[in-house]
Amino acid sequence: MIKMIKVSAPGKLMLFGDHAVVHNRPCIVTAVDHRISVSLNKRNDNKIFLNAPDMNIEDYKISIRNLRKQHPKKVRFVLTAIKNFFEKYKIESGLDVKTKSEFSSKFGLGSSSAVTVSTLKGLSELFGIKINNKELFDLSYKTVLDIQDVGSGFDVAAAIYGGTLYFVTGGKIIEPINIKELPLVVGYTGIKADTATLVKMLYRKLAENPETINKNFDDSAKIVDEARIEIQKNNWKRVGKLMNFNQELLRGLDVSSLELEKLISASKNVGAYGAKLSGAGGGDCMIAITDKENFNNVVNAIEKEHGTFIEVKLNAEGVRVEK
Ligand code: PMV
Repeated sequence: MIKMIKVSAPGKLMLFGDHAVVHNRPCIVTAVDHRISVSLNKRNDNKIFLNAPDMNIEDYKISIRNLRKQHPKKVRFVLTAIKNFFEKYKIESGLDVKTKSEFSSKFGLGSSSAVTVSTLKGLSELFGIKINNKELFDLSYKTVLDIQDVGSGFDVAAAIYGGTLYFVTGGKIIEPINIKELPLVVGYTGIKADTATLVKMLYRKLAENPETINKNFDDSAKIVDEARIEIQKNNWKRVGKLMNFNQELLRGLDVSSLELEKLISASKNVGAYGAKLSGAGGGDCMIAITDKENFNNVVNAIEKEHGTFIEVKLNAEGVRVEK
């Protein structure tokens, strides 16, 4: 019987340190319980068949020798992951691949990193090659960089390790943060952010104005270090304040947007302790922290401003092989 392997990995939400983490500073990221799974089977020929119904991909077929060619954006992460795995471990095999997502890629919750990690973990299981989490991180991060050029790898770490992490650029530090709860409201602006463009814009800003931008990133690092402590104390008031400070820094980098600001103000107006954008900015999601009693008021305030409330459980489990 042909062995089928199924692996799933969680999405992510950046809590603190957005953008600065690309430039050798820390961030805090939490894994969310919206997962992407990848199922893999060996084939007896040299073809790879990819099915991704959530992305309207049906029987996308290529032969192994064409893995290096350019592929449509939607299939690039899975195929580049396969190519990198085959090259590193000197393996070649036909494959049937099927992906399934519990969330839309439009929210910016890390679907690309989750699908990359699931594919690589699945391949290691399928071919019986033991790789530890750090090796899985390095190969997944390389895959993401091959496609996007830029990025800190925080999303890859969340997909692999799960939980809530203190993370420094490129996985120089990956440490778990113990949290029991985190009363966060997540609001989606309805606008898809273009992470790579915003990250590249900040490289330009940094080159033009190193002093100001480095100061901004250093301030971000201080906020992250304090937030790491206060989150573990459940001190939501202070965590909210720190979110507001972080948002001020992000505004200073010109990565916020009118839609994000509307949802952020609406949350604070009904008593959220703090709110900020999450991720690259320009769109995607914002987060607000609030007392549990006030949670629904914040949700309503976001919806009144035409944001979409996204229900997520934080601190989700990292990559896992499904039975
Ligand atoms: O847009 P997202 O959710 O993928 O987050 C990007 C976060 C950045 O710090 C701007 C980039 C990165 O790779 O860390």
